Order: sequence, then C-alpha cells, then structure tokens
Amino acid sequence: MSSDPIKVLLVEDNLGDARLMYEDLEEALPHQFQMTHVRRLSEALEYLWEETCNVVLLDLGLPDSHGIDTLVVTRAQAPGVPIVVLTGFQDEALAVEALKGGAQDYLVKGQTDSKLLGRSLRYAIVRKATEEALLRQGVALARAEELQRSRQRLMEAQERVRRETSAQLHDGVQEKLLILKGNLQGILKGTSSASETTPILSEVIDGLSQVIERQIGVLSRRLYPANLSHGLVPAFLSFGDQFKAGPAVEIELGEELMRREKADRNLVPEQVKLAVYRIAEEALTNVVKHAKAGKVTVRLDASGEGWLRLMVRDDGQGFDAQSAPGGLGVATMRDYADAVGGQCAVHSVPGVGTEVTAALPLPRPGAEHLKALEKGGD
Ligand SMILES: Nc1ncnc2c1ncn2[C@@H]1O[C@H](COP(=O)(O)OP(=O)(O)OP(=O)(O)O)[C@@H](O)[C@H]1O
Ligand SMILES: [Mg+2]
Repeated sequence: MSSDPIKVLLVEDNLGDARLMYEDLEEALPHQFQMTHVRRLSEALEYLWEETCNVVLLDLGLPDSHGIDTLVVTRAQAPGVPIVVLTGFQDEALAVEALKGGAQDYLVKGQTDSKLLGRSLRYAIVRKATEEALLRQGVALARAEELQRSRQRLMEAQERVRRETSAQLHDGVQEKLLILKGNLQGILKGTSSASETTPILSEVIDGLSQVIERQIGVLSRRLYPANLSHGLVPAFLSFGDQFKAGPAVEIELGEELMRREKADRNLVPEQVKLAVYRIAEEALTNVVKHAKAGKVTVRLDASGEGWLRLMVRDDGQGFDAQSAPGGLGVATMRDYADAVGGQCAVHSVPGVGTEVTAALPLPRPGAEHLKALEKGGD
C-alpha cells in the first residue's frame, strides 16, 4: 500500500462508539490513516460529494436514515469507494443483506478489536479494487465482442453485395450474351460462306465468346466463388487455374479435411469457408503482385482439435513488415479471421519468402446438440 495515509470516513452517530473506533484504528494502523467523522447520512453525502476517501465505515442506523437504505444511498453517491458497515450484534441478517447490497465487509459493534478493524479495512479496499478491475475487464470483453460482431456484420454485408452482383453477372448478363451468341451462330449458319458478312460475324462471335468465358466468368468468380457451395476442396483446387499467371501453385489438402468434408459437405460453416477462402485468395494475389516467387504452396487441413488451418508459403523476395507500404490486403485477411473468432498472421523474411498462416475455429462435434439443448430444443 502507498505511504499516503488511508482516508477513512466514519459515519457514526454514537460518540462513544466513534471514539472506540478511532482508538482501535490508531492501534491497528498507527499514523497511517486520516479519519473524518460525521454523525448523519446527509453530512456523509455532503462529504462524499466534495471529497474522496479510501474507505467508509458506515453505521446503518443513523438519525436521518435506517437499515439497508443507508448503504444504498451512500453507494449511489460514491460507487467506487469500499464500504464496511457497522451493525448491532442482533443485526446479523441486516449485515448479510448489506454484503449482498454491495458492502465489502461488516463489523459487529462491541465485538470488534483493533486487529479485526485493521484487517477488515485493508480487505475491503483490496476487494473493491479487485471488483473494479474485474468489472473493467468485463466491459473490455463486452466491447471486444461487440467489435467482433460489428466486423462480422460488415463482412456479411460486403459478401452479400458481392454474391448478388456475381449472380446478376452470371445469371443475367452472361445468360443474355449466350442467347445473343446462339442467335448470331444461327445467322452465321444460314449465311453463305462466300458472303462478305461471314468473317465479320465470325469475329463478333469469337469476341463475344471471349467476353462471356474470360471476362464475365472471371469477374463473376472473383466477386463470389460459387463453387464454395460444393465445399472447400473444389474451391481450393480451382486456385491453380485462377492464379496460373503467377508462379507454380502447389495445393496440399489434408486427408482429414477431404475425408470429413466428403462425409459432411456442411462440415465448415459458411462464414468460416468464406473467411479461409478470402484469406488464401488475398495471400495468392499478393504472391502474384509482390513476391517474384518461383513457387507457392497452399496447405489446408482440419485438425482434430477443431481448427481449420491454412498456410500459404512462397519462396519469393519477402518484405520487411516495418517498412512495407501498408495496403488493405493484410489487414483484411486479419479482419476475416477475427470475424469468425480465428487468427491470421503474416511472417516474411526478406530474401527468403513469405508465409501467411491462419487458424479458424470449426464447430466441435456434438456442439449442435448442445446448442439445441441451450435453446430448449430436443
Ligand atoms: N507474398 C509477398 N511477397 C512480398 N511482399 C509482400 C507479400 N505480401 C505482401 N507483401 C508486401 O506487403 C505489402 C502490404 O500488402 P497488402 O496486401 O496489405 O497491400 P497491397 O497488396 O499492396 O494492396 P491491396 O492488397 O490493398 O491491393 C505489399 O505492398 C507488399 O509490399
Ligand atoms: Mg494485397
């Protein structure tokens, strides 16, 4: 405890009791405390409004207030200050009520000595500080949870727009262009090969095919990987094709993941699937954009401990995290992991390469059953 004196507010209407209390305290904490004595609740409230103190010794029976109300009103005035209540010896029930009402401790008048008083005050101060710290931790935890929920909402909103735009491109624009292409092919069939329009028509049809298959197809898939609905395994295997412009992509899918996903296509929740897909996608995009790598390995597995684990490792030029210009990619990978309660880290060594790792939680077997029980289902 600091060398500053402990400031004690004694609220006690009986002068004899107050003097005894002072003497006991002087014996327990010689020259280590500074006491202010008041006799009425109104004076105590006045004092607590103006001043601070380390602990209040509070008699619950005062000329202007009786019983538990005395505690309730005092706490409302100084919620951060520990309170030790003083009760009569036949008031044990009231003492227990006071503890439930937020008092840190109680002392029975006439049964207190200096040792008990000193210990009770110290205990009350430490206990109150611990309670406050726990409360702050609880508030911090609640804020962190709210932040995670808000991140989740943002991700969901973003993914929904991407999914809808992708569907419109695929089902709307692409379908219409395919019909147009079919019509043009019909016209071409009916046109003599000697006609001047034949080569022009053929060129238009080829151009259309390119737009349909390459541009719209790629754009639609980049916006939203529709093959995720068939599972992570096919979606990850398609990375080889998507990133063929870059270094050789080696994809290693763990046997356990393949086995478990085959048995249950919904093994990985939708949010987690999207998160791990987006992290791998950004990591691979970074390899193509920045790494100058010869090879990149993508590893994905579901470990027995209930984690989906990803590693994307390249043998490129690496970078210094302190000096690299920060884009959105690395931060977004972490956001995707955070939003589902997972972790993502980027480790890079200049001249050696870069490694992106992520671990995202999978529902534990039996968790659904527990959730149903919690909800009162069967
Ligand atoms: N695999 C990698 N190899 C080398 N450098 C990398 C690699 N991944 C990231 N970097 C470096 O880290 C920086 C930050 O990456 P990040 O993905 O956050 O941003 P970006 O790719 O530059 O832009 P954005 O992702 O927003 O389009 C990059 O600019 C690059 O310098
Ligand atoms: Mg990037």
